[in-house]
Amino acid sequence: MGKISDALEKHQKENKLKVDRVPLGQPVSSGREKLGPSSPTEIIKAGKYSPKLVVLSAPDSMDAENFKILRSQILFPKDGKRPRVIMVTSALPGEGKTFVASNLAVSIALGFDEYVLLVDCDFRRPTVHRMLGISASRGLHEHLIEHVPLEDLIFKTGIGKLSVLTAGSPSPNPSELLASRAMRNFLEEVKNRYDDRYIIIDSTPAQVTAEANVLSQYVDGIIFVVMAERAPKEAIQRSIDNLGKDRILGVVFNGYNQSYRGYRKYYKRYYKQYGV
Ligand SMILES: Nc1ncnc2c1ncn2[C@@H]1O[C@H](COP(=O)(O)OP(=O)(O)OP(=O)(O)O)[C@@H](O)[C@H]1O
Ligand SMILES: [Mg+2]
Repeated sequence: MGKISDALEKHQKENKLKVDRVPLGQPVSSGREKLGPSSPTEIIKAGKYSPKLVVLSAPDSMDAENFKILRSQILFPKDGKRPRVIMVTSALPGEGKTFVASNLAVSIALGFDEYVLLVDCDFRRPTVHRMLGISASRGLHEHLIEHVPLEDLIFKTGIGKLSVLTAGSPSPNPSELLASRAMRNFLEEVKNRYDDRYIIIDSTPAQVTAEANVLSQYVDGIIFVVMAERAPKEAIQRSIDNLGKDRILGVVFNGYNQSYRGYRKYYKRYYKQYGV
């Protein structure tokens, strides 16, 4: 509890984005929810989150609008069945998975009715906490390995009805951890506790790690991110074939192009193994 309390105290002292512990046994409630969506402007003034959270920092932008479209496609799917556990992945590193997962989660959570839990399942380069400007010292890893109760780990963001579970400590064997019974139990628990909660999972790249393929078995659907001029067509095709075409809810084409430098060191042995 110590570090989370410290983080809370620090944020309160600094009057930054309100970060709180949320007992999972109760719906996330800030009082504000009863009045409808939080005001993005208020949150921006108080917040310490990344400006890349465009749904908040640039609510009138084309990007923010695109997330609203994606949100409505998820909330009102053509076949009528709403996916509740959604994983975001891509073929290669750095294509914008965390950008999409975080913005989508915020976009859904700013609606009137939807509760969202954003879970960082990337134990290699966890960055969800940076997008939201929250402390990342403990998270999913501590729940799965040390059995720390979720209510001590899940953060209420103060942004609509969004709560976040960060990845926590890095794991030396992430795919085994995500394939564990503890992980299955975790997802069952968060899924069954509330039937109005969406769970958005930020994942690793499918072509260079095993985790996305492991996680794909537990989720209701997958959002596949493709960054412009990044992954070769064959790598995209291979990823989609491995994940299962019928599991893909949609493909997000990310026009932004970020330098590849800095990624190779995290995925070096996988680049070799998968030949990308
Ligand atoms: N559409 C966008 N607009 C602005 N910045 C973006 C956009 N898409 C991605 N970025 C930036 O590009 C970088 C890589 O994006 P991000 O971290 O979301 O990729 P990722 O696929 O999650 O990477 P990793 O494989 O390491 O998890 C980040 O700095 C992110 O903020
Ligand atoms: Mg990421």
